[in-house]
Amino acid sequence: MDIRLLTNADLPLIQHANLENLPENYFLKYYLYHSLSWPQLSFVAVDASRPPKGPYDYPKIVGYVLAKMEEEPSDGVPHGHITSLSVMRTHRRLGIAEKLMRQSQLAMVETYQAKYVSLHVRVSNVAARHLYEDTLGFKNEKTEAKYYADGEDAYSMRLDLDEIRRQIEEGAEAEAEDDNENGEDTPDEGDAVGEVGRDPEAGKKETTKKDEAGRQIKVAVGRGLGVGDLVEKVESKQ
Ligand code: ACO
Repeated sequence: MDIRLLTNADLPLIQHANLENLPENYFLKYYLYHSLSWPQLSFVAVDASRPPKGPYDYPKIVGYVLAKMEEEPSDGVPHGHITSLSVMRTHRRLGIAEKLMRQSQLAMVETYQAKYVSLHVRVSNVAARHLYEDTLGFKNEKTEAKYYADGEDAYSMRLDLDEIRRQIEEGAEAEAEDDNENGEDTPDEGDAVGEVGRDPEAGKKETTKKDEAGRQIKVAVGRGLGVGDLVEKVESKQ
C-alpha cells in the first residue's frame, strides 16, 4: 500500500470513494479547491499491487484524507482542518486511516506551522470516533446540535500538534549532530510513512471489563484483537 500526496488526476476517484463511504458529499470543485490551495495536506492510499496498466488506466485508490488550513481562524491561531476521511470497506482496519491522518498532521506542522487540527464527526460514528479519540488523541471541544443535514449532532474535535512539532525539532537536531560527527552527508532514508506522532506503545493496548462473577479482567483492544473481533459490525442495528 502506498500513501502519497493527492494529485488533481485523483480527484474524480476520491469523489467516488467519498460517495461510496459517506453521506457528506461535495462538488468536484470543492476537492479541486483543496488540492490547489493546500497541495501538501491531502493524501491518498493506493493499492500498489495493482499499478495502472497504461496512460489511460487509473490507480486503485482505497482511501483518502482531504485536508485544509482554516483560512480565517476565529481564534487567530493557525490550524488545520480535516474536511473528509474515508477508507474503502475492503481495506478497513489495516491502519490506513491512521497513516493518512498522521501524514496530513505532519504536513500541517511542517508546511504551515499549524498549532492544532480540528474536525467534525457524527456522534454515532463509532469507528471514526475510536480512530480520533483513542488512536490519535483528539479531544471533544463541544457538541454541535443538528450539525448534519439529517439532524444528527456532531462532536467538534481538536488535536494539539505540539508533540509533532517537538518530534520534528528533535529529529532536526539529531540530524545536525550526525552531520557534525560524520563530517559528511549520509543518505537520508526518511522515516516510516505515517509514523510521526505515533505512540510507540500503540497497538499493545489493554483495557478492563467485568467477567461473569463481577471481577475486573484485562482484555485486548485495537489491533491486538483476534480475527473474530475484526468482523465488521452494523453499528446502526445495535
Ligand atoms: N469499530 C471500532 N474501532 C474501529 C473500527 C470500528 N468499526 N474501525 C477502525 N477502528 C479502530 C481500529 O481498531 C484502530 O484502533 P487501534 O489504533 O486501537 O488499533 C483505529 O480505529 C484506526 O484504524 P484504521 O485501520 O486506521 O482505520 P480504517 O482504515 O479502518 O478507517 C474509518 C477508519 C476512516 C473511520 C473507516 O471506518 C471509514 O472510512 N468509515 C466510513 C467513513 C467515515 O466514517 N469517515 C470519517 C468521517 S469524519 C470526517 O471525515 C472528518
